[in-house]
Amino acid sequence: MPISVAPPPDGWLARVVIRHLVKTDLPALEWEGEYRHFRRLYTDIYQGYSQGRAVMWVAELPGSGLIGQLFVQLDSSRTELADGIARAYIYGFRIKPAYRGFGLGTSMMQIVEGDLLRRNFWWVCLNVNRENKSAMKLYEKLGYRVVAAEPGRWTYIDDQGKRQEVCEPAWRMEKQLVWSTASK
Ligand SMILES: CC(C)(COP(=O)(O)OP(=O)(O)OC[C@H]1O[C@@H](n2cnc3c(N)ncnc32)[C@H](O)[C@@H]1OP(=O)(O)O)[C@@H](O)C(=O)NCCC(=O)NCCS
Repeated sequence: MPISVAPPPDGWLARVVIRHLVKTDLPALEWEGEYRHFRRLYTDIYQGYSQGRAVMWVAELPGSGLIGQLFVQLDSSRTELADGIARAYIYGFRIKPAYRGFGLGTSMMQIVEGDLLRRNFWWVCLNVNRENKSAMKLYEKLGYRVVAAEPGRWTYIDDQGKRQEVCEPAWRMEKQLVWSTASK
């Protein structure tokens, strides 16, 4: 059954602030409990962020809280995804349902790509679930192309300390970054 979502307040998009996450934002990434199972994962990503191996972005609507998030891994043991020099990996990209389809996701991606260029990163990749046609369409519009099939198997420890296995076959998409008006 589709979940009904209250429409966002008038003029909200112009008030959204896209910024780096701060530690006190971490609980809000759980979206009132829906993503509580990722609590440890988010803490681990935050640790990598504190060490300069990742960047965590959020979109905040003053008065309403966090309405979007996007993480960037700059360095990884999987160097085909992120190599700490020129290649970075985008993941954990999510906008709250009421705010989707208004251009916020596109703005976040453009800001993040501009930030990567300033850090001298030239390649960016991401994995998209093979069933997620609408997200693929967005990435294609932004210039990403499918370069590989990913089995999408990974594990994490949930908030109860239990190991969870995930299998989400995905396409790896990639883009070479170039300076443009949107990235400045
Ligand atoms: C994918 C997502 C982050 C894009 O953010 P957004 O703010 O909706 O993106 P924009 O408004 O800039 O772009 C809209 C485009 O996103 C795509 N899209 C993906 N899911 C969508 C949704 N639920 N509602 C509206 N558009 C969606 C469409 O292709 C749309 O293109 P169109 O406007 O030409 O139809 C967001 O829709 C979302 O959180 N989806 C659920 C989580 C997800 O799929 N994350 C990506 C994981 S790889």
